[in-house]
Amino acid sequence: MCGIVGYIGPGDSVPILLDGLKRLEYRGYDSAGLAVLNGTGRIELRRSTGKLANLEKVVSQEPLQGSTGIGHTRWATHGPPSEANAHPHRVGGLVLVHNGIIENHMELKKELLGEGRSFSSETDTEVLCHLIDRQSKRGLALPEAVRAALAEVRGTYAIGVMSESEPGLVVGARNGSPLIVGLGADASFLASDVPAVLPYTRDVIFLDDGEVAILSASGVEVTGLEGERRPKTSTRIDWNPVMAERGGYKHFMLKEIHEQPRSFSDTLLGRYSLERGEVEIEGFMLDEGAVGDIEQVVIVACGTSWHAGLIARYWIESLARLPVTVDIASEFRYRDPLVPPGTLFVSITQSGETADTLAAQREARRRGAKTVTICNVVGSTATREADAVIYTHAGPEIGVASTKAFTSQLAALFLLAVRLARGRGTLTNDAARCLLEDLIRIPLRMEEALARAGEIAALARRLAGARDFLYLGRGINFPVALEGALKLKEISYIHAEGYPAGELKHGPIALIDEQVPVVVLAPHDAVYEKVLSNLEEVRARGGRIIAVTDRADESVRARAEAVLDVPATHPLLTPILFALPLQLLAYYVSDLKGCDVDQPRNLAKSVTVE
Ligand code: AGP
Repeated sequence: MCGIVGYIGPGDSVPILLDGLKRLEYRGYDSAGLAVLNGTGRIELRRSTGKLANLEKVVSQEPLQGSTGIGHTRWATHGPPSEANAHPHRVGGLVLVHNGIIENHMELKKELLGEGRSFSSETDTEVLCHLIDRQSKRGLALPEAVRAALAEVRGTYAIGVMSESEPGLVVGARNGSPLIVGLGADASFLASDVPAVLPYTRDVIFLDDGEVAILSASGVEVTGLEGERRPKTSTRIDWNPVMAERGGYKHFMLKEIHEQPRSFSDTLLGRYSLERGEVEIEGFMLDEGAVGDIEQVVIVACGTSWHAGLIARYWIESLARLPVTVDIASEFRYRDPLVPPGTLFVSITQSGETADTLAAQREARRRGAKTVTICNVVGSTATREADAVIYTHAGPEIGVASTKAFTSQLAALFLLAVRLARGRGTLTNDAARCLLEDLIRIPLRMEEALARAGEIAALARRLAGARDFLYLGRGINFPVALEGALKLKEISYIHAEGYPAGELKHGPIALIDEQVPVVVLAPHDAVYEKVLSNLEEVRARGGRIIAVTDRADESVRARAEAVLDVPATHPLLTPILFALPLQLLAYYVSDLKGCDVDQPRNLAKSVTVE
C-alpha cells in the first residue's frame, strides 16, 4: 500500500509533494521518490530507500524545482526495497508512480522484453511504465496512451503519470487502489488519501474504479477508460488533522480493521485459477515433485500469527491430509525439536523481524527443513533467510494489534493448503474450485460483517466495565477464541482467556458469574449442537453470554444477552469472518476505556528481542 501525490499549479511543487508524502508516510516507508518538470522542460528524478527523511536529504543536497510533479512512498510488493525499485519509474521522457499489484506483469514483461525493451527494476510498476511509453510511441497523447495501456493490464492500480512531451499534464487513474483529486483555487492535486491535500484544499473528488483524471492548468477532467467524460461532484472534507492522518478513522487500528476486504483480496490477487481449480503462488519453491516429498508440516509463529497457524493446521490436515504441528516460536527454538526429513517448515510473521520466529526458522533450516515464510514486509529478515516467501499484501499495519495482517495471513495460508492438497492429489479440481469460489467471496462477506460495527460499539458500552472475559470456541474456531481474547487484553488491559469450549467443565467454568462476559463462537458447523450445550452451562451459572453466530436461530437468541451476527460461509472459512466482530469488540472496549488503542502500554509492533 503506497502513497502517491501529484501537483500542478503556480507554485513550486517540491515542498508540496514532500509535505504530502509526509502525511502519507503511514502508507509505506520502504523507499520514496519525486519527479518534477523543471524550467527547461526536463523531468528530474530524486529517489532514496528508507524513510522519507532520506529523500528530503537527497533533495536538499541536489535541489530541484518545478510547478508540475509527482511523488511516491513505497510499500514493497514486488522487488525488495532499493533505489532501483523506488518510484517514480522512468522510461524515456515518461515517469510513473503506482500503488497496487499488476497481476499479469510477468507475461507483459516477457512481451516487452521480446520487443527489445530493457528493465532497470524488479517491479510490476516498471512494466506499466513501458506499456504507456509504447502507446505514446504509437502516437497517442498522454491521456489516451494511459487509457490504452491500462486496458492491457489486470490487477489493481492507482497511478500518477507525467511526460516531457506533454509538460502541462499530470494524469491519474485508479482501479482497486484509492486515488483522489484535490481542487485548489489555482492548482490541482492527486493523492492516495485525503491527508496529503488537506493543507491546500478541502474540496476533493474521489475517483472510482476505471476512471482517469487529467490535471492541467485549466482544471481537472475525469473520463472512463474509453475516454468518455465522467461528470464528478466534489466532496467538502471537514476532518480535523488527527482524523485526517488516519483517513477519517479515529485510530489506525479501526482503519486497518475496515481495510481487511481490500487486504484480503490483494493477498489472493493473481494466485488462483478458478477454471483450473489451481493455486499458483509466485516464489513458492515447491513444484509437484517437491510437494509429493513432504511428509509433515511444522508451523511456528508468535502471538496473533501463531493463532493463524493454529487455524491453518485444520486446513492443511483436512485438505492435504498432511500431519501438522503448530508451535510457539519461543518454545520451538529451545525444545531440541524433531525435524525429520520431508518436513515443510512454515513461519508466519507480519513484520518478518520477530526474534523468536527468526531463531526458530534458522533452527529448522539448520536441521534440514525446507522453509517457507508467510510475511507482510518485503525484504525483511525472515524473507531473506527462508527458502521461499508467500507475501501477504496487507500494506503497512500501523496499529500494534494485528488485524488486517492476521486475516491476510489466513488468505495466504488457505492458498498454501489448497496448493499442497492439489499437489498431493487429495483435492480434486472441482472441489478446489468450489473452495476457491467461497474464498474469493470472503471480502464481500467481510464488508457485511464490518457493516455491523455500530451494534458492536453499542455492546462494548455494556461490557467495558467487566474485569474478566472468557472466549470459547470449538474446532477450527478455538484459535479464533484465543485471538479474540488476545485482541481484548492487549489493547484494553482487561484480563481475557480463550478456551476450547469443550474444556469449560475442566476448570474455567469456575470463573463464571454474572460479572463475566462469555463470548461464544457458534458457527453452524459440525459441533454447533455441542456449543449450544456449552451456552447452556454458562447460562445456568448466570454468565453473560455474547454469542457470535452465522445463523442466530431461537436456540441461540434465547440463551444470549447479545448476538453478533456473522455472514455464513464455508465451515472451513468461518474463522476469517468470526475474527472481525471480535476485533471490533476489542477496539470499542479499548476506546471506551480511553486506552491508547494504536500503541498499547508495554507492547511493540515487532518484538525484535527475545
Ligand atoms: C498481535 O496483535 C500482537 N501485536 C503480537 O502478538 C504479534 O502478533 C506477534 O508479536 C507476532 O508478530 P509478527 O507477526 O510480526 O511476527
